[in-house]
Amino acid sequence: MQTLIMEGAAAIEKGAALIRRGDVVVFPTETVYGLGADAFNETAVEEIFRAKGRPNDNPLIVHIADKSELTGLTREISPQAQKVIEAFMPGPITVILPKSDRVPDCVTAGLDTVGIRMPAHPVARAFINACNTPVAAPSANTSTRISPTSARHVYDDMQGKIPLIIDGGACDVGIESTIVDLSSDTPTILRPGAITAQMLAQVLGKVQTFHGQVVVAKAPGMKYKHYAPDCEMAVCSDLNRAKAYYEECVAQGGNPVILCSSRWAREMTHERTIDLGEDGTQVMKNIYGAMHTGEEIADTIICQDFGQEGKYASVMNRVEKASGGKRI
Ligand code: TXA
Ligand code: MG
Repeated sequence: MQTLIMEGAAAIEKGAALIRRGDVVVFPTETVYGLGADAFNETAVEEIFRAKGRPNDNPLIVHIADKSELTGLTREISPQAQKVIEAFMPGPITVILPKSDRVPDCVTAGLDTVGIRMPAHPVARAFINACNTPVAAPSANTSTRISPTSARHVYDDMQGKIPLIIDGGACDVGIESTIVDLSSDTPTILRPGAITAQMLAQVLGKVQTFHGQVVVAKAPGMKYKHYAPDCEMAVCSDLNRAKAYYEECVAQGGNPVILCSSRWAREMTHERTIDLGEDGTQVMKNIYGAMHTGEEIADTIICQDFGQEGKYASVMNRVEKASGGKRI
């Protein structure tokens, strides 16, 4: 299959036509690129799982262009859920709610709940709107690979498996949406993201974060290895230790790169670095792109430990997964 990359109104029109006839299409959002299909078309949804090589017990998020679509997809929207929807939608958040019978089981992997997201990205909104149906979409990477934040990332990973990539430029947020389970009495963050626990707590009063190992189908995606680059990756909290490890790698004939803040990068005059930026927002935007570049140009990625403050907690959640917990 030939994979086209298109942009602008023609891309949206072509993409929507493909979705309406049951095909899959890659589209940009402010978090990461998504691989979409008509959420009500089971054959089309199955094509998502096939193209990604995704286990079919891992449910998909349903994307909408307008809040009025929420009622058709859910059985009940609690007052707490209503508050989150008002405060953060459209935006980089996914709410888990009790699903309506209209949502096919293959989308939710048989769960009684459905994840719903309304992207803020204008191209995503225009595309979903033109599809005239909710769009089920996971991140547009093959299973276990790093999520894509540009059309080029998608092309390099999925070329030949999908008919069309709608190019909307680089994703502004840079990591996947915050997932918050609002289907029961206790709001629970299942995946941290740009909407932080602190931001949710301001609206909800209290919110818990799910840290445990997944044994039941509470957050099925969490039981799979995720976000892994194609090379060694290790995390380091000390600048001098990172430099020393870099030298060790070079001495052994290796080809390392250091992913770090601008502050570290300024001190690393002899080492090859990828500067992720000055603050949490910039580091979040650049982290996946840097992992993509890192695995292309190096055999070892050394990533700075950014700690757990604000957005850095969400960045480190992805970095921990990508490194498999390896620290130096
Ligand atoms: O930012 C995002 O959320 C991107 C863009 C494309 O919207 N999408 C995304 O989808 O990251 P995906 O499939 O890569 O990650 C969705 C996660 C999976 O780990 C899945 O297990 C979880 O959401 N999920 C989906 N529905 C769920 C449900 N009903 N209950 C619990 N977890 C659910
Ligand atoms: Mg994903």
